[in-house]
Amino acid sequence: METILKVENLNVSYGRHRVLNDIAFDIKKGDYVGIVGPNGSGKSTLVKTLLGLIPADSGKIHFGNGLELARHKIGYLPQVAITTDSLFPAKVREIVEMGLLVQKKFPKILHKEDKTKVNRILDELSISDLKEEKIGQLSGGQQQRVLLARAMVGEPEILILDEPTSALDPKIRSEFYQMIQSLNQKRQVTILLVSHDIGSIGQYTNKMLYLDQRLVFFGDYKDFCHSNDMTDYFGFETQHKMCWQHGAHDHNHSHVKLKTSTSSVEDVNTDQSLKVVGGEKV
Ligand SMILES: Nc1ncnc2c1ncn2[C@@H]1O[C@H](COP(=O)(O)OP(=O)(O)O)[C@@H](O)[C@H]1O
Ligand SMILES: [Mg+2]
Repeated sequence: METILKVENLNVSYGRHRVLNDIAFDIKKGDYVGIVGPNGSGKSTLVKTLLGLIPADSGKIHFGNGLELARHKIGYLPQVAITTDSLFPAKVREIVEMGLLVQKKFPKILHKEDKTKVNRILDELSISDLKEEKIGQLSGGQQQRVLLARAMVGEPEILILDEPTSALDPKIRSEFYQMIQSLNQKRQVTILLVSHDIGSIGQYTNKMLYLDQRLVFFGDYKDFCHSNDMTDYFGFETQHKMCWQHGAHDHNHSHVKLKTSTSSVEDVNTDQSLKVVGGEKV
């Protein structure tokens, strides 16, 4: 598979405070990578640096597939964007259209095919009926779909989501993860999904990037699960849970999908829920 993003020796600081140390990894086209790590571990900083929003002290970020010259072909959902202002005036359609307008040079005009693209993504994310609604009047889950539609409408090669589900309740969260997974599978969009939720991220992603100001792990779950270094770092039990989640997804897709729609992410981190999920796995 071709490399779509290559990062080498990346160092990033805020003032004199170094947050990312010597980060290096390769992302292949079609990968679905979970970027995980504790609060303050530098996940958002990494993402913003990749997007060119924060300068690096040193290191290289190289995009393949022509993306170097077209960074707007990277879709981005920033951390916590949900509005509780029910009077926020923008309509769903207008917000999604903005995803196309930002890519245009002057004059910024929408053509017929742009309208078709907007309709297509609204349809794909099952929010066509909300088209003329004001975003401030929608639920958190609906708003997040609208923002996903805005990020996707320009048909990005890479989609980067920063904790997109942290404000959503567990059922909606699970639906959202499944929607992202479907974009990855149907459209071959490369996905970087930031989450502090190591318990459930393994169900959806095929690679893990574990950050704690340095790169603790990057690779697929098989390597993670067989790594003695990772047993030493996380402890056997945590490593096992992270692996189990991923394995359950691989071998018993539909059961886990059904089950996760009713269990909370916090639950998933406990033995109790592992047993319940396991019980479903006939
Ligand atoms: N704009 C900023 N200015 C100074 N320090 C920051 C800024 N943003 C984040 N930090 C610090 O950088 C570290 C990493 O933050 P962040 O990348 O947001 O972590 P995460 O997304 O993993 O929670 C934290 O110690 C945070 O306090
Ligand atoms: Mg963050």
